[in-house]
Amino acid sequence: MSSLRATIRKAVPADVPAVIALEQASAGAAHWTESEYSSIFSPKGVRRVLCVAESAAGDDASVVGFVLARVVANEWEIENIVVDGASQRRGIGRALVSAVIEQARLESGSRMFLEVRRSNAAAISLYMLMSFHQDGIRRSYYKDPEEDALLFSRSLENSS
Ligand SMILES: CC(C)(COP(=O)(O)OP(=O)(O)OC[C@H]1O[C@@H](n2cnc3c(N)ncnc32)[C@H](O)[C@@H]1OP(=O)(O)O)[C@@H](O)C(=O)NCCC(=O)NCCS
Repeated sequence: MSSLRATIRKAVPADVPAVIALEQASAGAAHWTESEYSSIFSPKGVRRVLCVAESAAGDDASVVGFVLARVVANEWEIENIVVDGASQRRGIGRALVSAVIEQARLESGSRMFLEVRRSNAAAISLYMLMSFHQDGIRRSYYKDPEEDALLFSRSLENSS
């Protein structure tokens, strides 16, 4: 499928409804409340970075994907990533992960982590393509349905 022209940018509070709509429509995504998303923009508490992919069609721009990462010291964790079903397999997931890696490097991050359901072949393929390696397994970590979490990480110090 052809690549889709999408701009990756930092999210603003007005993007929260679109982000929630995307994750609610995605069975594979982590689900958060509106107040949890809104707290991302508060200077208090754990720091998070939320980036959205915006696709322009004519005069309309719509949010077709997002990535959310938590930052603790120089360690980054991808907590959620979703691309709208109609826009998948067009390079947007890759662009979102690249954007968060680039931001982490700008801030001298050293390592990026994530966890994913064992059955989530699409996400696992994307992460392996982006040079993440499996470090471990958390047995029965996910509920509804119960499933193992595979733990992945990658260095931010090499150029891949
Ligand atoms: C995982 C997800 C974000 C990927 O987004 P995407 O925009 O489709 O990804 P890309 O188009 O950038 O794909 C990059 C590569 O990832 C791999 N990939 C992506 N989707 C795939 C699929 N369904 N099956 C196999 N490999 C896949 C491929 O290697 C692909 O490269 P290719 O298209 O050149 O073969 C998307 O499938 C999604 O939103 N899934 C539901 C939410 C989810 O599970 N999030 C992860 C939570 S841990």
